[in-house]
Amino acid sequence: MTMDICPLEGVGAEISGVDLVRGLSDAEFATVRAAFAQHGVIFFRDQFITESQHIAFARRWAPININRFFAAHPDHPEIALVSKERDQRDNIGGGWHTDHSYDHIPAMGSILVARELPESGGNTLFASMYAAYDALSEGFQRMLRSLNAVHSARHIFGEAASTHYQQSDARGARIGNSAAAEHLQDPVHPVVIHHPLSGKKALYVNPAFTTRFAGWTEEESRPLLMQIYAHCMKPEFVHEFVWRPGSIAFWDNRATWHFARNDYHGQRREMHRITVEGEALCAAH
Ligand code: OGA
Ligand code: MN
Repeated sequence: MTMDICPLEGVGAEISGVDLVRGLSDAEFATVRAAFAQHGVIFFRDQFITESQHIAFARRWAPININRFFAAHPDHPEIALVSKERDQRDNIGGGWHTDHSYDHIPAMGSILVARELPESGGNTLFASMYAAYDALSEGFQRMLRSLNAVHSARHIFGEAASTHYQQSDARGARIGNSAAAEHLQDPVHPVVIHHPLSGKKALYVNPAFTTRFAGWTEEESRPLLMQIYAHCMKPEFVHEFVWRPGSIAFWDNRATWHFARNDYHGQRREMHRITVEGEALCAAH
């Protein structure tokens, strides 16, 4: 089998000619790793892996981060269940976001495996924070490089949360540990990071978890954040991934945003997610 890496419109690359059931050789893994660093999100098709194979693949990248907010797989605590039931209205991730920016050392990314899909709908959109940064003027880039931003999960996962990023059961009761969110210390991250794997510059603010620029009020921050978000959502930086049985997506939280479409009410969708740890973030110069 020869591996093929096909860059996609907007962001990401589809990798074919690999067999994740059999597992990757060291040479194949190195090639996949380089593609992940370059493209920010990689996709695989027709990979019917078991839970244990999912866990083994994840462990090759970095230690597994066990999610504090999502329900765990009953037999495999390493796997978080990202699911929407037939009678549920909200989904997980139904707005532009990147996972874990509320952590001091944000997770590298998540490996999401399709387990049960609606007949249609339930696509996931990804946006490139490399391309969004690169498309800005040199002057605006320089100004953004001088800024840091505060991130928080409290308004999302905490006691007062009411948005789409959390999981609730059919009666609307919250699943997961909302009290845990209350104890998080809001981290400050550079607005433009030096990406730890690629060395490229990436925008690192997102609509879900960034609350303000460091040293600015929320009110002062809002207009500039909205301007940056509107830019990042432009179609030229976005790829819409259509899931099929056997599809896997692995995104880099430090290089992309994602958005789970919630357009399949009445049908069930279940994804298995494993998140792997990242490294400390540095500002781009
Ligand atoms: C996530 C998420 C997207 C999806 O698991 O972090 O946002 O399409 N999921 O399920
Ligand atoms: Mn997410």
